[in-house]
Amino acid sequence: MKILVTGGSGFIGSHVVDVLLAHGHEPRIFDIVPSPYITPEQVETVVGDLLDLETLRAATRGCDAVIHLAAVSDVNDVVRDPSRAELVNARGTEVMLEAALLEKIKRVLYASTVWVYGGAAGEEPLDEDTSLVPPAHFYTATKVAGELFCHSFDELYGLEQTILRFGIPYGPRARASTVVAQFVSRALAGEPLTVTGDGAQTRQFVYVEDLAEGVVAALAPVAAGRTYNLVGSEQVSVRQIAETVQDLVGNVPIVHVDDRPADLRSSAISGERAERELGWRLETPFHQGVRRYVAWVKGIQDTPSEAAASRMAGSASSVPRQEPAEL
Ligand SMILES: NC(=O)c1ccc[n+]([C@@H]2O[C@H](COP(=O)([O-])OP(=O)(O)OC[C@H]3O[C@@H](n4cnc5c(N)ncnc54)[C@H](O)[C@@H]3O)[C@@H](O)[C@H]2O)c1
Repeated sequence: MKILVTGGSGFIGSHVVDVLLAHGHEPRIFDIVPSPYITPEQVETVVGDLLDLETLRAATRGCDAVIHLAAVSDVNDVVRDPSRAELVNARGTEVMLEAALLEKIKRVLYASTVWVYGGAAGEEPLDEDTSLVPPAHFYTATKVAGELFCHSFDELYGLEQTILRFGIPYGPRARASTVVAQFVSRALAGEPLTVTGDGAQTRQFVYVEDLAEGVVAALAPVAAGRTYNLVGSEQVSVRQIAETVQDLVGNVPIVHVDDRPADLRSSAISGERAERELGWRLETPFHQGVRRYVAWVKGIQDTPSEAAASRMAGSASSVPRQEPAEL
């Protein structure tokens, strides 16, 4: 299949492109910046803004599906500039749906987040049928808006869609502001690992290469009109992240600081539907995934390319406090 990957230059998108290639698909990248990992000779690339309907339409032309990952995805950027986040995440999703509709695309896959379950009540683990409550974070509000737009285009115009709610991704090419990246960077620099509160708060991490496999699995016909959580069952606490990094990188101290206000308790989320219907499950345990991430970081540090250097610039050693982007 020919597939447009919006946000294909980003962290998750670059892995989705790799997996599409590995499965014999023909990906095309659409992003506002060129990919630091994949050259236009390797994968056709259109550099353009999601908000530009005509450019997006041209990029979408001839594709069978769109995997829509382009977004303002770092919550720190969202807090800094909510207006831009709303424009790209909400309006940008509407423009993407319009382009897909006009170009008669068969299916749109939309990247959402398990953050949509914030504050939701119900028996845990929460599944895709759980009723959502209005989101506390503006980032989540923009992602929920995108989900709603996908549903509306399906109902109104018959545009097939699939919603994918990602757990917390980590792994090679991760943004420097994410918690695993920050801890690894600090440990490599011999600096202490800072844990807020008792570090007992847990999250369901997803190794990014597994996540990308899940995204591609959702191209299957069975996924039309469905919503899937792409998470594993392993609950990892912040304390465990620090201990894992300590174990893999070196014996730097773990320091506890006062709890951040409004650090949301996170509910357990079920990935059972994705396993049953898509045959996808998380393959990489957390410890192994962090080991691979550390190997990747060390590889980069040994052979710093321009792209790698810019990705690593501002990594944890220069991040003033622990503000995990998606934790
Ligand atoms: N990283 C996470 O923790 C996480 C968790 C759950 C869901 N998600 C979602 O997954 C998707 C991918 O996230 P990521 O972590 O790979 O983020 P990322 O920031 O690495 O990638 C997003 C890409 O979108 C591109 N982009 C931004 N604005 C654009 C515009 N106006 N036009 C075209 N391209 C634009 C960026 O250049 C970037 O390459 C996002 O939709 C995000 O909301 C991410």
